[in-house]
Amino acid sequence: PSVAVIVVAAGSGSRLGHAVPKAFVPLQMRPLLERALDSIFRMREAVQIIVVAPSDRLTDARGIAAQVAARHEAPVSPNRPASGPAAPPSRTVTIVGGGRTRQDSVDRGMSALIPSIDIVLVHDAARALTPAALCDEVVAAVRSTGHGIIPGLPLVDTIKRIANSGAILGTVDRSELSAVQTPQGFPRSMLAEAHTWAAQNGRFEALTDDAALVADAGLPVSVIPGHQLAFKITTPEDLERAELILQAALG
Ligand code: CTP
Ligand code: MG
Repeated sequence: PSVAVIVVAAGSGSRLGHAVPKAFVPLQMRPLLERALDSIFRMREAVQIIVVAPSDRLTDARGIAAQVAARHEAPVSPNRPASGPAAPPSRTVTIVGGGRTRQDSVDRGMSALIPSIDIVLVHDAARALTPAALCDEVVAAVRSTGHGIIPGLPLVDTIKRIANSGAILGTVDRSELSAVQTPQGFPRSMLAEAHTWAAQNGRFEALTDDAALVADAGLPVSVIPGHQLAFKITTPEDLERAELILQAALG
């Protein structure tokens, strides 16, 4: 494959407040990581998948990945004729241990990239319902522009700039803002350069996503339309929302 997807799943999920790390919290019977991987397995082209999991959960993560792989690469089922659609492209899944911060975890993931990869997507396992089509769109846009590409949605609320006291300092021009999501895609060399730059300049702590690292290094990043289902599960309310969406989808 020439595309890799690094799925960062090594966080604890302190805001979700569950007994197990967030990626292993069940959402309608299946852990968030399993749901996220399921979408990635539906991507159009073969990809290298790198799961960055908590260091003490590597076996669990491997089990989840194996389950998803088995579901997608199952032999021809009785109700699907042998002459039917071609088997999906094969995926390789590598599991690595995460770091203290999200960016450390991305770094660990990057160290597992195989040589043939030239486009890297970084995706949050916590965005468990992200459609595969969004991942395909990010890959296509990175390929056609050679830029970093991130999905984003327009903001619906009016945004105020406020002081510590709560006093309003002004209204932000909403048309200039985008609420960005993952997967964020980059030419491999660009992501590597940005990470090196950030490490050398002590910028890791300040920047919370890969697009910020890449833009901070002076490299081009553009936004494409995101998707409502790519929202991040952060709080118990977000998990509830995801449950309701899945219930509705099942009718
Ligand atoms: N992540 C990671 N390694 C870390 C921290 C975060 O791989 N050291 C991953 C999370 O697993 C998640 C994604 O980055 O998929 C987005 O982070 P966030 O939603 O903040 O998850 P957590 O850090 O786990 O949650 P919280 O901040 O509430 O503790
Ligand atoms: Mg976090």
